[in-house]
Amino acid sequence: MKLLFVGDLVGRAGREVLAKQLPKIQQQYNIDCTIVNGENAAHGKGITRRIYHQIKSLKVDAITMGNHTFSKGELLDFIDEAEILVRPMNLSPLHKGKSVLVLPVCGKRLAVVNLCGQVFMDRIERDPFECMQEILRDNPADLYFVDLHGETTSEKITFAHVFAKRCVGICGTHTHVQTADERILNGCGFISDTGMCGAWDSVLGRDKEEVIRHMVYHEATRYTIAEGPAVFCAVVITVNETTWRAEAIERIQIRP
Ligand SMILES: [Fe+2]
Ligand SMILES: [Fe+2]
Repeated sequence: MKLLFVGDLVGRAGREVLAKQLPKIQQQYNIDCTIVNGENAAHGKGITRRIYHQIKSLKVDAITMGNHTFSKGELLDFIDEAEILVRPMNLSPLHKGKSVLVLPVCGKRLAVVNLCGQVFMDRIERDPFECMQEILRDNPADLYFVDLHGETTSEKITFAHVFAKRCVGICGTHTHVQTADERILNGCGFISDTGMCGAWDSVLGRDKEEVIRHMVYHEATRYTIAEGPAVFCAVVITVNETTWRAEAIERIQIRP
């Protein structure tokens, strides 16, 4: 079983590079299940109905989110119909949409889980460790995959040490910078951060001139998303179909 997980799509550049690379990668790796982080898909913050359907139409099985989940108010109008959308369990508001999506993959029930880290993050109402215990207790499945959306590598690595034995994949998102620490930990494919799909000549997908004006000259700026050729970041996790444990994780980074 091959799982493909694609890091934060940032704006149009991210959506376009996804559409360009996804069919090739799905074919090349013989992917059985594709999960994409869409928290920045709509102009860098949140997701709209149109973009949700656009991503879904690319043979994506689950769309995970992050701290920007509710940045576009219109999500609340369609979240109950957005069957493949998974939002962080511990992010406020807590009771909109779902945080676990169980998918049939290769004859197994794969639970796709989305959680936010707590360290240096806003509006996180619950401890991700406690939430994960609850998910494992209340959502029976054969395999668990977690998109852990967090700022710090330490929190994500600690989470992996605690839950690796119960999961086939624990992949970090949110920093938009891919880390080179992918490994198999107790039968679980882990990476601290998967990286982003977004404009390469940018600051984390945002317009670099604007970020410079803000950081260096303290100007109030908008949230302008960078345009131009984009990087594509993802991982492929191979799950052994006898033991049903992960046996390989491969990092993908395609620069323009
Ligand atoms: Fe992000
Ligand atoms: Fe984020």
